[in-house]
Amino acid sequence: MTVVLKLGGSVVTEKDREETLDGESLDAAATAVGNALDGLDGLIVVHGGGSFGHPNAAAYDVSTTQGTHDSNGVLAIHGAMKTLNTFVLRRLREHDVPAVPVHPLSAASRDGDGELTLPTEQVRTLLDEGFVPVLHGDVIAHAGEGVTVVSGDELIVELAQGVDADRVGLCSAVPGVLDAEDEVIPLVDEYDDVADVLGASDATDVTGGMAGKVRALLELDVEASIFDLDAVGPFLAGERVGTTIQ
Ligand code: IPE
Repeated sequence: MTVVLKLGGSVVTEKDREETLDGESLDAAATAVGNALDGLDGLIVVHGGGSFGHPNAAAYDVSTTQGTHDSNGVLAIHGAMKTLNTFVLRRLREHDVPAVPVHPLSAASRDGDGELTLPTEQVRTLLDEGFVPVLHGDVIAHAGEGVTVVSGDELIVELAQGVDADRVGLCSAVPGVLDAEDEVIPLVDEYDDVADVLGASDATDVTGGMAGKVRALLELDVEASIFDLDAVGPFLAGERVGTTIQ
């Protein structure tokens, strides 16, 4: 079983304090990963930006579609994400996870239509050789725009397809897609089923909002789940948790 797990930025960082780690949550996630690893054939971890990525991206007015040619901006955003990545790696390694970094800026790009290309041969080989590749939301080259943001949500879709993953999990701040009564909706197989509760979010919004996540995950051939920190262990153990999207 090859699994792609995203740890949302709102889970591993303190949302309201710039460039501040949520060490306790990160440690809980790393513990769950460490405990589950023996039962998996391969695991790729992707983490979001949280209070490291988003404030820096906002400072340079960069989004997934709006770019910058300012190299200071590239280094500020990428640098903050590398700092966070170092923290994530360190915690995973403390729990005996053979985690190694893969930085999207060095590998991925968008064409003039914004279409993302992420080579995954190196990730596949790292997996085959027993490592746990750890990617992160980042800035990447974008034809005609300079650099734009690539979100962790976009990366998990590309990775799942590229390495033919069996399961995809997205650990977020909420326990799943919630209905009008704030109850978790166990299964989503069509966007229209949840369009009402997800509101009128912009379909192109991939760095924020549940709507973008659900749309992206529905496109996958494999089953995906959205859940919270408490469910990381059960998810990695093969249980159905949170909202399943298929
Ligand atoms: C954002 O990644 C990366 C940057 C802003 C550079 P994500 O969009 O995946 O981050 P979270 O999970 O929402 O924080």
